[in-house]
Amino acid sequence: MTDCFDFERFQEVLASHPRSASVNVVVHNTVDSTSSDLKRRLENGAPIGTMVVARHQSAGRGRSGRSWFSDTDKNLYFSMSLFIRGELETLVPLVPLAAGIALIDAIAEQGCVLPRLKWPNDLLIDGRKTAGILCEMVVNKGDQAVLVVGVGVNIGSQTFPEELSGIATSISELDKPVDRSALMANFVINIKDWIKNITAGGVADLVASWCARAEPFGRRVRVGDLEGVTEGLAEDGRLVLRGDDGKRVHVVGGIVESLSSSDF
Ligand code: BTN
Repeated sequence: MTDCFDFERFQEVLASHPRSASVNVVVHNTVDSTSSDLKRRLENGAPIGTMVVARHQSAGRGRSGRSWFSDTDKNLYFSMSLFIRGELETLVPLVPLAAGIALIDAIAEQGCVLPRLKWPNDLLIDGRKTAGILCEMVVNKGDQAVLVVGVGVNIGSQTFPEELSGIATSISELDKPVDRSALMANFVINIKDWIKNITAGGVADLVASWCARAEPFGRRVRVGDLEGVTEGLAEDGRLVLRGDDGKRVHVVGGIVESLSSSDF
């Protein structure tokens, strides 16, 4: 192993950060889902610093019970756990936003085409999904929580199954190969920095940073039964929609479906 992961390179990038913690990485040729595997390991006593990366997933999971296309060796599939302490009601809904920013910035360091964010943390290039993040709570006790954050980045896949054609795309590797190990290490560094920041009260900073990397607002979308035009993010990171009746709704969760590429 592996074409997709080089442990020494990963450690080298991680160690370049002043507050890097030690991380134990489990590497699979194939696994059902890196997030399911990590959850099982945590239940069996693995330390919180454990990460799981795989060349292929046989049952990669997306948000809202969807599956995640996991072509062998072409892309990046990994999961990490995060420990959070503080006011969980405020902090936990912000983790997906923090993860989205952390991933865009890790991709930016590779010097490739920059995706934009769609709430809460889809990464899109020209409106097509390039990466997805699945955040799952595994421990929730008092003021402490452990989350598993699973990341899938389409890096090299050139063809997708029929149901994804036209809606999924990859980061182009035409100019230079993407250093998957560095991308993963930078994601770990970035998300830990954001968790520290929001735990210390930096929510406004998070919301502003998310908006700066987002697709333009003013798009007509559907979220579950709600339909409206995106206006921005509220102070607590929720998506603000303006319905046809002019009323504003703050969206807590769900899949945001675009109803038009642009309303302008
Ligand atoms: C989404 O629906 O946008 C989230 C997709 C998350 C996919 C990643 S791939 C690595 C990790 N393991 C999984 O089973 N899912 C996440």
